[in-house]
Amino acid sequence: MACDILVTGCRGQLGRDLMALFSADHSVCGVDLEEFDIRDRERTLEVIQEADPGIVLHAAAYTDVDGCEENRELAMAVNADGAENVALACRKVGARIVYYSTDYVFDGNADRPYTEDDQTDPQTVYGQSKLAGEQVVQGVLDDCVILRIAWLYGRHGRNFVKTMIKLGFQQRHDLHGGREIAPLKVVDDQFGAPCWTMDIARQTRAILPRQLTGLFHATSEGETSWYGFTQAIFATMNLDVVVEPCTSDEFPRPAPRPKRSTLTNQRLNEAGLNIMPDWKTSLESFLHDHGKELACEL
Ligand SMILES: NC(=O)c1ccc[n+]([C@@H]2O[C@H](COP(=O)([O-])OP(=O)(O)OC[C@H]3O[C@@H](n4cnc5c(N)ncnc54)[C@H](OP(=O)(O)O)[C@@H]3O)[C@@H](O)[C@H]2O)c1
Repeated sequence: MACDILVTGCRGQLGRDLMALFSADHSVCGVDLEEFDIRDRERTLEVIQEADPGIVLHAAAYTDVDGCEENRELAMAVNADGAENVALACRKVGARIVYYSTDYVFDGNADRPYTEDDQTDPQTVYGQSKLAGEQVVQGVLDDCVILRIAWLYGRHGRNFVKTMIKLGFQQRHDLHGGREIAPLKVVDDQFGAPCWTMDIARQTRAILPRQLTGLFHATSEGETSWYGFTQAIFATMNLDVVVEPCTSDEFPRPAPRPKRSTLTNQRLNEAGLNIMPDWKTSLESFLHDHGKELACEL
């Protein structure tokens, strides 16, 4: 199965959109846990050698942030050692790699968006394991691309937008049924930039022909809180839902969430390559394209 581009984590949220976008004009093969576990160095090498791609889009990861907190070893094994295995295989076959990293590499306490030059200080095991992944990939390959992305949602997989749409319809159903409704409480003291996975796929496609290497922030423009994001979802879906802002203290989680992990795409801007839209415009496009399907699937 030789191909131009190999996508790891091809059945994940981002992986599915990478497969869809790049398949339009490249031969693309996708691999996920069903094919092999990236913790297995020999098998990783074997499969990537067989596929012999020019580019590997490495989207596979252990992404359960709270799960990582409780399973440090697994998080490091998948997100750092697994990334190293993929990078070593890329070096062997002469492939370029795009490694998808996260806003969680920062402490989340800054009073302005983080640039690529800011000091990292991950506060969660997930963030630590993804930062370790960045470092091992950079150690193995001089010409890698690291894209730090954030707050993903998309057509596939589980994500915040889908959850909110489900809860919104549930509340409407209860209201019509004459049942008492409790307002939906959403955290209003954590800020970031929601990103549609298809925008990340398009941004990846825009970068690749330029042969750029190094670390780039690639998130939607602007920022909002989870509460602001929720309000925008319901407004765009024309769903009249009772939503109330609340603080993070009301929803304690095993892994502490950053207060503000907004990134600025400084290096993409400098290269004239930043095509990430404003988060709200992007959300509207996503719901325009997929909102009806999502509502029908409930
Ligand atoms: N989601 C976000 O908000 C977010 C934010 C910033 C950065 N990122 C990064 O963006 C990338 C894509 O995220 P996503 O949300 O699309 O993730 P996702 O939906 O969880 O997809 C990741 C895929 O990787 C697979 N995988 C897990 N462990 C593996 C292993 N040991 N070997 C091979 N495959 C394995 C998963 O399989 P299973 O589902 O069967 O476990 C899943 O199909 C990741 O690198 C993530 O760290 C995500």
